[in-house]
Amino acid sequence: MDAALALIGEDLKNVELQFKKDLESDVPLIRKVGEYVLSSGGKRIRPALVLLAAKLCGYSGNRSVPLASVVEFIHTATLLHDDVVDNANLRRGLASANTLWGNEASVLVGDFLFSKSFSLMVADGDLRILKVLAGATTIIAEGEVLQLVVTSDLDITVERFIEVVRSKTAILLSAACEVGAILGGATPELQQAVADYGMELGIAFQLMDDTLDYTANEEQFGKSIGHDLEEGKITLPLIHTLQCCTPAERDIIAAVVDKEELSDDDFASVFSLVHRYGGIEHTVAAARERVARCKEHLEKFPASPVREAMAELADYVVTRVK
Ligand code: IPE
Ligand code: IPE
Ligand code: MG
Ligand code: MG
Repeated sequence: MDAALALIGEDLKNVELQFKKDLESDVPLIRKVGEYVLSSGGKRIRPALVLLAAKLCGYSGNRSVPLASVVEFIHTATLLHDDVVDNANLRRGLASANTLWGNEASVLVGDFLFSKSFSLMVADGDLRILKVLAGATTIIAEGEVLQLVVTSDLDITVERFIEVVRSKTAILLSAACEVGAILGGATPELQQAVADYGMELGIAFQLMDDTLDYTANEEQFGKSIGHDLEEGKITLPLIHTLQCCTPAERDIIAAVVDKEELSDDDFASVFSLVHRYGGIEHTVAAARERVARCKEHLEKFPASPVREAMAELADYVVTRVK
């Protein structure tokens, strides 16, 4: 992240100021919840991608900061809704908005952020950008519904799982990159290359997130460990384990996945199977493969400090602890 920060640190600070402006509303609860979530210390990967991709494609105007802010608004809206759907109590190391203000407030403020994003895009006035981001938000909604449908499905295939990951997560990282490329007036081929970089990066990002749900230090990660398992979310570490384990072990996993509340022993039994069958190593390797592919897309651009920073950002995704 350091190389990226050196290049776009100043713009990222301006993105923070932009959120505050964009959050303006006469309804105090919107400002309260919105400011709480937006100032709780997200990693700002998506706005960073808008800014870096714009720079990579030669853009130096003043629209990248407001659009980076829009993309983080969309991300924040999805988090507010996602934590309701996932019954999550912890986000960015703090009580989640649904824990503090309830599901109703989270859903409604999420709706406000979504709608506001669209108003801001209309104000920017570029139909190509509106098309990319409107398309991405639609796919995210589909991805979250797909995720719901496959909950507790022990037979989910890797292909279907990756489809969910593409839709719920990777599409927004890809769209963030594409917005930057459009700002820079990239050729269709280069715009596609940047979008593909973002897509592979996004898949790696979610695969590592799913790994961290098994391996992270809760304080560093800022989210509850084992929460995916508790919510019946079958992610790649567990899919791999299910493909390798014995029928009796599969029954143990099935019983735990079906439970409403998990005991320490339930977690321990599934975690030990995941470790025994190399579910973590397998998933990290899959993420690394995605990172390698994602960097290949950058090769279409001439070497530059921005390209280097984007390659480093890809490496960071597989070494991150939060
Ligand atoms: C969280 O995204 C949701 C996922 C796609 C896993 P981030 O890990 O980028 O969240 P923040 O914004 O840094 O908190
Ligand atoms: C990430 O969902 C995708 C969205 C928020 C749309 P997850 O449910 O997998 O991510 P975390 O673990 O809550 O951050
Ligand atoms: Mg979630
Ligand atoms: Mg979710």
